[in-house]
Amino acid sequence: MTDATATATWNGPLVAGRIALVTGGAGAIGAATCRALADHGADVVVVDIDAGRVATTVAEVEARGRKALGIVTDLTLDGTADDAVQQATDAFGRVDILVNALGEHLALARPFEETDEAGWDALYRINLLHVFRTCHAVLPGMKQRGWGRIINFSSVEGIRAMPNAAPYTAFKAALDAFTKSLGVEVAGAGIRVNAVAVDKTKAHQVNFYDLGEEYDRHVPVWIPAGRYAEGEDVAAVVLFLASEMSGWVVGQTIVADGGTLSAGGWYRTPAKWTNSPLLVQYFEDPAINASRPRPVQ
Ligand SMILES: NC(=O)c1ccc[n+]([C@@H]2O[C@H](COP(=O)([O-])OP(=O)(O)OC[C@H]3O[C@@H](n4cnc5c(N)ncnc54)[C@H](O)[C@@H]3O)[C@@H](O)[C@H]2O)c1
Repeated sequence: MTDATATATWNGPLVAGRIALVTGGAGAIGAATCRALADHGADVVVVDIDAGRVATTVAEVEARGRKALGIVTDLTLDGTADDAVQQATDAFGRVDILVNALGEHLALARPFEETDEAGWDALYRINLLHVFRTCHAVLPGMKQRGWGRIINFSSVEGIRAMPNAAPYTAFKAALDAFTKSLGVEVAGAGIRVNAVAVDKTKAHQVNFYDLGEEYDRHVPVWIPAGRYAEGEDVAAVVLFLASEMSGWVVGQTIVADGGTLSAGGWYRTPAKWTNSPLLVQYFEDPAINASRPRPVQ
């Protein structure tokens, strides 16, 4: 298969006949990506540590008439990323589309001087090292066939700051730099490497949306798009990047965040847009604030 952007049409399935491997493939965004790729004609390898959710995602791909392989493994362990790519290749002959959706903050938020090397290493392994490993394993085949798509997962926090999470942000920013350099390096071989930087998407590893109805009116203040994202909102961007449609997009990080990064410090209150919100809860009796759900304390 060649890099066929010039001759592609856009009215059919976007990834027909492709073989996709999705890490973190049973997560909120990963599973939505598996379903989107299957809806558009790809067979899918779902790689994740959660056996129950892997089984569900495999069934969802198969229900769409596509083949699926579930691999339950811990991708932070040495050898597992190469093994997953090998199992995918044994089952389907190749990997055309690699989606590295695995990434986590690991709830390690604390002042940097209170962090330690074990924590840095855990964040490195779950956010960056397996991406090197999966890319390293799939690139020779992609180069040989003259076609490939790699989509990495960054975060708005790799672009802006996240206080008390400096090592996490460093690895997400590193993913953007890796994506840019590798994207340029392999563009001439018909391979596209891009990334998606996410924010405010309902997922297993975050609880910011789990607040109760009385906080619903705050959501349009926090997120310009006025709601939290579902996995499908982000999977749509991945599908584009996985298809012929991204043929002229090289080494980019696409921000999919409902507008939080663009808004910067601006907030849409019911009265007006402001960059000086009064965060009065921090000036109340601490006991009042302590009674609120954790994400808004
Ligand atoms: N949800 C958001 O708002 C948000 C914000 C910023 C960045 N992201 C990024 O988006 C990507 C997708 O995450 P999500 O939001 O779908 O989260 P999620 O928690 O729903 O999915 C993560 C998946 O990774 C799996 N996993 C965890 N540890 C693993 C391991 N060691 N080996 C294999 N699998 C493992 C989990 O079982 C889970 O299914 C991540 O890279 C994340 O950093 C998400």
